[in-house]
Amino acid sequence: MSKIIIANWKMYLSHEQALSVSKALVVFSKRVSADKKIVICPSYISFKDVVDIFRDSRVSIGAQDIFWEERGAYTGEISALDIKMLGGEYVLLGHSERRKNFNETNKMIHDKTRICLENGLIPVLCIGEDWEQKKNGQRDYVLIQQLNEVLEGISVSDSNKIIIAYEPVWAISAGGGVHASPEEVNYVQKVIRQVLLDLYDNFIINDVFKIIYGGSVTPENVKEYTDIQNISGVLVGGASVNADTFNKLIGAT
Ligand code: 13P
Repeated sequence: MSKIIIANWKMYLSHEQALSVSKALVVFSKRVSADKKIVICPSYISFKDVVDIFRDSRVSIGAQDIFWEERGAYTGEISALDIKMLGGEYVLLGHSERRKNFNETNKMIHDKTRICLENGLIPVLCIGEDWEQKKNGQRDYVLIQQLNEVLEGISVSDSNKIIIAYEPVWAISAGGGVHASPEEVNYVQKVIRQVLLDLYDNFIINDVFKIIYGGSVTPENVKEYTDIQNISGVLVGGASVNADTFNKLIGAT
């Protein structure tokens, strides 16, 4: 099964650094086998230049967020129309750093998902419990609630694609993360699938949805996740901002 490897560069790189990492990766990407899909999500500042650098490669570009309206008086926001027009194909939505720092709610993420799909962009919906919730045995409840509130009322056809990224907040490296065990990730993908089965027809789920894992993924542990049969790839933060490390990670899948 083909695997997708998504790099979330967050706000780690300066514009100059983003260009230099992109130029190194475009060379590496020529040797990546066709069954691996690479997606880079740079900052908005570098977005257009990064699209240009990867233009003739098989690497796709994604945004780290978008707003839920296409145009209007929304100071500081970014339109899905522009991401699409500039060559973006994917959008990260509901990342825990946005939920925490900007009070993003499931309703907002729902609206962003809708506008993504209307514009032919592939949403990467991030869900995950924090350490407190995990400790209190609330993990499954939290994930089910996030998924239901984001996806309820979103109708899909087989031409839509949606990626669900299970990214436990406690596993993200910036929070001193410990990566989740493959057994736990395998269990969670079953919970996610059950929610999808409650919301959508069985026959469409495999066409539309992919489930991936994120949280302290490194070249050393990536294969533990990509080897899980129903996990379609990984979402990588810290280990994606250095071209050599990210190239090693891609090679290790
Ligand atoms: P790390 O890979 O640095 O843990 O970040 C994960 C993440 O938040 C990707 O969206």
